Amino acid sequence: MSAQSLVDSRDFTLPDAAATLALGRRLGEVLAPGDVVCLFGDLGAGKTTLSRGAIEGWTGDVEEAPSPTYTLVQTYDGARGELWHVDLYRLKQPDDAWELGLEDAFAYAACLIEWPERLEGRLPRDRLDLALAPAGEGRVAKLSAHGAWREKLGTI
Ligand SMILES: Nc1ncnc2c1ncn2[C@@H]1O[C@H](COP(=O)(O)OP(=O)(O)OP(=O)(O)O)[C@@H](O)[C@H]1O
Ligand SMILES: [Mg+2]
Repeated sequence: MSAQSLVDSRDFTLPDAAATLALGRRLGEVLAPGDVVCLFGDLGAGKTTLSRGAIEGWTGDVEEAPSPTYTLVQTYDGARGELWHVDLYRLKQPDDAWELGLEDAFAYAACLIEWPERLEGRLPRDRLDLALAPAGEGRVAKLSAHGAWREKLGTI
């Protein structure tokens, strides 16, 4: 891959929830096993909405996709293997995440992680950070690629 195709960051304007779902769907279509996406943003920013789109893109189905607020993890099967949807809001300490098997999942599954701050920086080196923030009535999504994700961010 040529140096020109490396992309560090991209912004998307999301005027409504349908746009958040659509961005999630595109992301879910390009994810591969081992891809980790960290979803940043305050309460109500749209992290779960984006995840629902990504789950649809991964499985090819319109899914129920309950928020994993209490279960911490929901997994989904698709043609490319397992997708983990993780919400760490209620995680008490970072070590508890490893008991969920998250470190193994980083290697073999595609992972969407809400509230990645709860891991206190113990995030994989290769990852996509996606930060959602309010913008008028809608949202803006800032995507930042780390490591190998720089070769992939241009494909979303
Ligand atoms: N681009 C957008 N414009 C306007 N509203 C949006 C947009 N994206 C999502 N929403 C709406 O924002 C609300 C909160 O979304 P969501 O539950 O996905 O947030 P969240 O970041 O997961 O919150 P929490 O941290 O509480 O889990 C929902 O009503 C959703 O429809
Ligand atoms: Mg949520």
